[in-house]
Amino acid sequence: MKERSGEQCDIVILNSNELLTLAGASQRPRTGREMRELGLIPNGGLAIEGCEFAAVGPSKEIESRYASKAKRIIDASGKVVMPGFVDPHTHAVFAGWRDKEWVMRLEGTVIRLRRTGIEKRDYLDILKAGGGILETVRATRLASQEELVKMTKKHLDTMLLHGTTTAEVKSGYGLDLENELKILKVIEALGKEHPIRLVPTFLGAHAVPAEYKDNPEGYVESVLGWMPEVKGLAKFCDVFCDEGAFSLAQARKILFRAKELGFGIKLHAGEFKDLGGVGLALQLGATSVDHLDYVAEKDIEEMARAVEAKGPITVLLPGVSFFLSRENVAKARAMIDRGVPIALGTDFNPGSCPTPNMQLIMTLACLTLRMTPEEAINAVTINAAHALGYAHRVGSLEVGQRADALILDIPTYTRLAYQFGVNHVETVIKTGKVVVEGERLMEYVGGGPKID
Ligand code: NIG
Ligand code: FE
Repeated sequence: MKERSGEQCDIVILNSNELLTLAGASQRPRTGREMRELGLIPNGGLAIEGCEFAAVGPSKEIESRYASKAKRIIDASGKVVMPGFVDPHTHAVFAGWRDKEWVMRLEGTVIRLRRTGIEKRDYLDILKAGGGILETVRATRLASQEELVKMTKKHLDTMLLHGTTTAEVKSGYGLDLENELKILKVIEALGKEHPIRLVPTFLGAHAVPAEYKDNPEGYVESVLGWMPEVKGLAKFCDVFCDEGAFSLAQARKILFRAKELGFGIKLHAGEFKDLGGVGLALQLGATSVDHLDYVAEKDIEEMARAVEAKGPITVLLPGVSFFLSRENVAKARAMIDRGVPIALGTDFNPGSCPTPNMQLIMTLACLTLRMTPEEAINAVTINAAHALGYAHRVGSLEVGQRADALILDIPTYTRLAYQFGVNHVETVIKTGKVVVEGERLMEYVGGGPKID
């Protein structure tokens, strides 16, 4: 048993069927075969003091040392206990859904299959025609900050109920200074109010807005000009570097400036086409490079080689290839087998992945990317925490880590991704407070202590 001696104890969890600690990887992400390690303690328990874990180990030992001084004891008999999910990639602040576009794409798919030669309507065609991301930009610009707080809070509640305790959230549906700041302020406000720990990212370069349609370079210059002002509100800067979005040269310009200003670096790359984003991410010391449905063989090797030098985590987003009905998916097997550290995220947004449910993403990772359940669990906890630079705080059940834990109403972890489409999360503990119990949200005030 690992423990830190303390006088008092707030919560004790006892008798779990399986306790997945994910311990031992807070310094370096898991790669290769390590991604199958869960640090599983059969019949495990843990003790929480304030906002941190005070002890993690066999239930019997926890019981004898902590049960008598605990304010609350939770019996997890027959259940799985694990770290809260970390979603390292979302676009959760937006107004308006896009079901019309989805139906259009579905019909386009049917037309293409019948080979009638009628113009296809896929995701990038719709964006080119001024829809897609730009449709959401129109709706988001019209919404007030208060309205966006209300809408986003609802999404965050859903995420928390499904076990997400830390989430990155990007701007990128404002695409002018006023509206990008508005979105980042929504994230800031909800970061204080909501129990989920939010990590804000500036994604001014998400798409070229309509008013710059004929002058994309002018838009890049504008983004560069906003960055000093945006800096106080965002930890990371990201660019959508892909066909139909921003070129590698434009991404380089923005991200080099971002690095100078002290942003952490993220990059959307290879969702539709490989423009060479991995090379740029490596050069910049990016924290993560995301999507990579298309990536060159040599870049997989480079990413694997960069691990010891704290290279980027690859964040795979299988909800996107699934929802856009893409035949091509990320080569997760090759990446893991060669030693690339993999995390999984939802990419929650109204266009390419409308689910914020990390449990479903794990199922898709297993079924469409051929990841094992153990790899998927590492990818939504400790490796996802590395993709946000927070693995020293969250992503594992270890003494000293922030007490973010889930109790799942399943006897064994393989059931989690296997029995898909239902919510297995019964209890959520966030920084030492029970915020979901009996699959219901508890009232929250002040959001609780945050990670520094
Ligand atoms: O990650 N790739 C760019 N952005 C999102 C999609 C956003 C949207 O369609 O609204 C993505 O897939
Ligand atoms: Fe994205």
